[in-house]
Amino acid sequence: MATNPPKLKTKMTGNERLQNLKNTFEKKYGESPLFYAYAPGRVNLIGEHIDYCGYSVLPMAIEQNILTAVSVNSSGTIQLANMNPQFKDFTVSCLEDIVIDRDNPQWYYYFLCGVKAIQEKCGIARLSGMSCVVDGTVPPSSGLSSSSALVCCAGLVTMEANQKSLSKLVLAEICAKCENYIGLEGGGMDQSISFLAEEGTAKLIEFQPLKATDVKLPDGAVFVISNCCKEMNKASSSHYNIRVVECRIATKMLAQARGLDSSKLLKLSEAQKELGASLEEMLALVDEVLHPEPYTREEICKALHITSEQFATQLLSANTLHMTHFKLHQRAKHVYGEAARVLQFKAVCDSEPAESVQLLGDLMNQSHASCRDLFECSCPELDQLVSICLKSGAVGSRLTGAGWGGCAVSMVPNEKVESFLNAVREAYYLPDPRRAAIEKQSLFVTKPGGGAAVFLE
Ligand code: GLA
Repeated sequence: MATNPPKLKTKMTGNERLQNLKNTFEKKYGESPLFYAYAPGRVNLIGEHIDYCGYSVLPMAIEQNILTAVSVNSSGTIQLANMNPQFKDFTVSCLEDIVIDRDNPQWYYYFLCGVKAIQEKCGIARLSGMSCVVDGTVPPSSGLSSSSALVCCAGLVTMEANQKSLSKLVLAEICAKCENYIGLEGGGMDQSISFLAEEGTAKLIEFQPLKATDVKLPDGAVFVISNCCKEMNKASSSHYNIRVVECRIATKMLAQARGLDSSKLLKLSEAQKELGASLEEMLALVDEVLHPEPYTREEICKALHITSEQFATQLLSANTLHMTHFKLHQRAKHVYGEAARVLQFKAVCDSEPAESVQLLGDLMNQSHASCRDLFECSCPELDQLVSICLKSGAVGSRLTGAGWGGCAVSMVPNEKVESFLNAVREAYYLPDPRRAAIEKQSLFVTKPGGGAAVFLE
């Protein structure tokens, strides 16, 4: 049940990864871990860049996760180490306020986002000291949500170390908000699925209020993840927040054009709700009210009756202050269209028609085209990879996660999986030595995995 605290008092002995983590922990801190916690990454099957607009998304957890070994102590510090030597150790005093440096998105700041979330939610004046070693198998900057998995794992670790108990739903909500400390205006999909996932099923995640519903995927196909090998770190570039801002402005422009009080509305879903319109009607409204040419600041200020100072403080975020032009028509078209595709995808999974696999594949292909052409969150490498995947036997293929690099997800009929993997390997990975070197962790079949949990060895 989604409302229970995420505790799994399972035995995990015999697991090589866990043994390595334990050995490293003991060498480093001279004691054994008291407990472990993990939080999975995710792959989003459909519903890209619409969670922060208030619309439902359809992800599933993957097997790759962030696993942390923890001991609680009276040192008055939180000590963090990572199994990956690229990521340096970090120690912070429990007496100091936790400060997260947005301009320097180091791995440990993601961890501290999770710590801060629990501290604030539970009103903990003085956090327990703890020693942690983190081990991640989610490839970083690949669109599989390694950063949110780290935030969620840290939240869970901090909850357990401070002997608090929160439900998965509450954990998901606060971990979604706290990732904003690092400057990213994310929408909550990644943290929600990391906590609410259940093995064997994808989930429809709805927001306000947060809710996760099982979505049974068809038996006739599997999902394959492939990394285009172009890294994209959402927090160290402004692409993501620019889209959040464009959607926010589009909301206000639509509301204003229909005589609503635009100052109260921030999300495209809120404009739809206020207007009592269907998604199809919203798509028509976008065509009627917004023009495809980029909007200037002056034009927006004039339409919304605000000063350029109000524009900057109320609508922009720290890393989007430089923006001069905004594509509102294209972004709103993508969001309303993609929100409709998520519902269609869920309806096909529920009704299981004979042609399910083809119908779902078509929706994934439409989603990729919309991400590429309207939302402009793809990149040449991802487009090339998606086209290779389709030529290699996938019925549907699309970028997954924030985009601008990272992974594609493809739906492949069961009987074609082997030939698909071989063909993609040959066409995309082997010709490039850098890609070939990381092919094993870049191209793999994935099944819906379980959600975050605490466990003892
Ligand atoms: C990132 C964010 C999510 C979501 C996706 C795009 O993963 O963290 O909230 O917006 O991008 O769908």
